[in-house]
Amino acid sequence: MKALVLSGGKGTRLRPLTHTMAKQLVPVACKPILGYVMDHISEAGIKDVGVIISPETGEEVKRYIGSGRKWGIKVKYILQSEPLGLAHAVKTAEDFLGEDDFVMYLGDNLLSYGIKAARERFERERPDALIYLKEVENPRQFGVAELRRDGSIKRLIEKPSKPPSNLALVGVYIFTKRIHEAIARIKPSQRGELEITDAIQMLIDMGYPVMSEILEGWWLDTGKKDDLLQANTIVLDEYIGRALKGQVDKESEVVGRVDIDRGARILRSRIRGPVKIGKNAVIENSFIGPYTSIGEGVMIKDSVIEHSVILDGSEIRGIERLEDSLIGRGASVIKNRDRHKAYRLMIGDDTVVEV
Ligand code: TTP
Repeated sequence: MKALVLSGGKGTRLRPLTHTMAKQLVPVACKPILGYVMDHISEAGIKDVGVIISPETGEEVKRYIGSGRKWGIKVKYILQSEPLGLAHAVKTAEDFLGEDDFVMYLGDNLLSYGIKAARERFERERPDALIYLKEVENPRQFGVAELRRDGSIKRLIEKPSKPPSNLALVGVYIFTKRIHEAIARIKPSQRGELEITDAIQMLIDMGYPVMSEILEGWWLDTGKKDDLLQANTIVLDEYIGRALKGQVDKESEVVGRVDIDRGARILRSRIRGPVKIGKNAVIENSFIGPYTSIGEGVMIKDSVIEHSVILDGSEIRGIERLEDSLIGRGASVIKNRDRHKAYRLMIGDDTVVEV
């Protein structure tokens, strides 16, 4: 079995971060989302992995994954010149996939459990597609499945106004080579994309068995700011243990599950976990509260921060309380102390500032 990781796309919903970085590389608990995806593929024993990349962000993705040796896998990069849909990405990868079964994993999705059990079930029961489903509260916003009694899929509907169930399609699928036949028969949707839901519906219409696996754990689509903060909260809660590799001075207090990387320094500050602090960050005279991830080389001084994600190389100074925030790479948030209380801003495209 091979794997196809989709790491192209536009990432419009995560702007401005995605003006300058691939959305699959946005970190959750200081690790790129794509890193968790590669972990799951490697744990499932898959060695041959195709990675779909775009002309805009491909180089950055390549730099992160490299040869794949770190995960014990062999990687082939496949350039998709335009993001014309998930099924279009599969079509672009046809030569790489050949006649083999494959897992398709969206590079911006995070799952609580890996995919090993689903792979084993697929190989035991041999359907032509096995799709992951998850109960959601707002099925109108997703691709939704209607199931038969035996758990096989009767019908898939994209963003239905009257959802037949609350089971949404999660971004992980396992296919046999039959998916290529189905993709060859579908046409672009109204938004001009070749949709994987249409291709799976076509498989069903062609009479091939399509089964589902209901995901019990969490599933996070990291498309927007609040989704990303939620992902950060959950991942910190589940994965972060106490590890103090950096330096904590005598006047500081570090409480609970706090992971401080090498070279980081905590000076006259209080840190209350779960918190992750990246390499060479400096926290001075500040309070860092639960569910915060601080990237490499970040500088925080005289500030209080909670439930936030601060990316690499940023600086935060004199901010009395920063909450529920997502700060991009190399950004500065600084309180000015002069008399006329003006805001002085230099802000990137598509940015949101609440003052
Ligand atoms: P989406 O989140 O559906 O699309 P997008 O990346 O264009 O994002 P946005 O809606 O914010 O503009 O894509 C899911 C995953 O699949 C994501 O990791 C990007 C990837 N993808 C491709 O590789 N090729 C494609 O043609 C599309 C549509 C997505």
